[in-house]
Amino acid sequence: MTMPGAFVIFGATGDLARRMLFPSLYFLDADGLLPSELRIIGAARSAHSDAEFRADVKTWVKDRAGPFFSEDAWKDFERRLGYVSGDATDSQSYVRLREALKGDPGALFYLSTSPALYIPIVQGLAEQGLTGAPNGVIVEKPIGKSYASCEQINSAIAEHFAENRTFRIDHYLGKETVQNLIALRFANALFEPLWNRHYIDHVQITVAETLGVEGRFGYYNEYGATRDMVQNHLLQLLSLIAMEPPHDMRPESVRSEKVKVLRSLRPIRDSELRDKTVRGQYARGVADGQTVPGYSEEEGGKPSDTETFVALCAHIDNWRWAGVPFYLRTGKRLPTRHSQIVIQFRDIPHSIFNGAPLMANQLTITLQPEESISLTIMNKTPTLTQGGYELQPLSLNLSLLDAFKGEKRRRIAYERLLLEAISNNSTLFVRRDEAEAAWLWIDRIIEGWARTGMRPAPYQAGSWGPAGAFALTERNGHSWDE
Ligand code: BG6
Repeated sequence: MTMPGAFVIFGATGDLARRMLFPSLYFLDADGLLPSELRIIGAARSAHSDAEFRADVKTWVKDRAGPFFSEDAWKDFERRLGYVSGDATDSQSYVRLREALKGDPGALFYLSTSPALYIPIVQGLAEQGLTGAPNGVIVEKPIGKSYASCEQINSAIAEHFAENRTFRIDHYLGKETVQNLIALRFANALFEPLWNRHYIDHVQITVAETLGVEGRFGYYNEYGATRDMVQNHLLQLLSLIAMEPPHDMRPESVRSEKVKVLRSLRPIRDSELRDKTVRGQYARGVADGQTVPGYSEEEGGKPSDTETFVALCAHIDNWRWAGVPFYLRTGKRLPTRHSQIVIQFRDIPHSIFNGAPLMANQLTITLQPEESISLTIMNKTPTLTQGGYELQPLSLNLSLLDAFKGEKRRRIAYERLLLEAISNNSTLFVRRDEAEAAWLWIDRIIEGWARTGMRPAPYQAGSWGPAGAFALTERNGHSWDE
């Protein structure tokens, strides 16, 4: 396997590059994980000398690294950095880039730009002969706004880069707890026998954010919560929870199992939209003790029908999951930043405890704010009572923070993903058919909302979304775990 000689970031002065990509590369280097000869080249429109660019990157890395910044590590990292300026739609930019890459054994191109530039960039690279193996491309979500646009981008990329050299990033797959989900399911004998419709009552996936749109109204208003979060992050979580055991960890083994889940998602018909989907949009309210504006009053905002909250009840039509609801929920301006997966087991079939209340077992995997896994089990209360047992639910808790105290800092999800791409391993990247299958399911919902005129219901910033979100679970006798 050839390691790339250069890692090129298009959109090198943008927000993602500043906050995530350069700090991640810096940390990988500081830990000795980057190939020693790897050069890192920023490409963006503004004119900068290499020295000016390095000074900018240093500020971004220092900001992000805080107490973990080291001047010595920086000195090593800095020598890797270079800059090429140019407009992504101007063919001369690629001539300059080709010059800058002369002598490198191969290059990985990270497109951290507006998706509208993905096709022009790939074509510009191709014109300069920069797309053949071993070169590869990394693309950020959103890949398209629908199945059709995703397919179009994928096809344009596929003309120049092979699928195994195309890395579609979903940063949730870089999160430690998300990868731990694979370990939890397949490195333990305990769960697999129970991991099906016979023992699991329902599954909840919540990704709650306290932030609003944070100056991104223009982008967000075009996409909304369903395209921004569900099509990618939440459906990726769902497919990891629901997939069959893969044969091994090779990219084709894992991703082939995930895509089967996505293809088994039951389409939600227009007549079911009001029962199985909820759209919301935040109105003025209170977050973290401060009054915050409603969505349409945000900077650059305007009255809009875009949802900032969505809750869905999904079903997977296969033998393992028939009849098990998967509730998905995500939103902005919710009361806490809190992302978790709850596996709710079924009630015991018969109680011998004289009607004492019992709670079914629950496995909770918390992604954010802290990573933890907890299993709720029923216990006898250690008291003497007349006439039998008093029971109470208690949790077996595994805090990953405590368990791995030696790991001094929480890694950025991008560190793992960049390292995997540089090492040419695509297990943690989304394959073309996965992205397209997810869009097909999502398109039907979004188009259904338009066909049936289902507009987002307002909810107060700082609340758990519109009342319909509670009705969604209660209709089946369930309730959200909060
Ligand atoms: C991004 C979305 O993909 O994920 C953002 O575009 C969202 O709108 C973010 O805020 C959430 O990521 P995380 O890692 O903070 O949960």
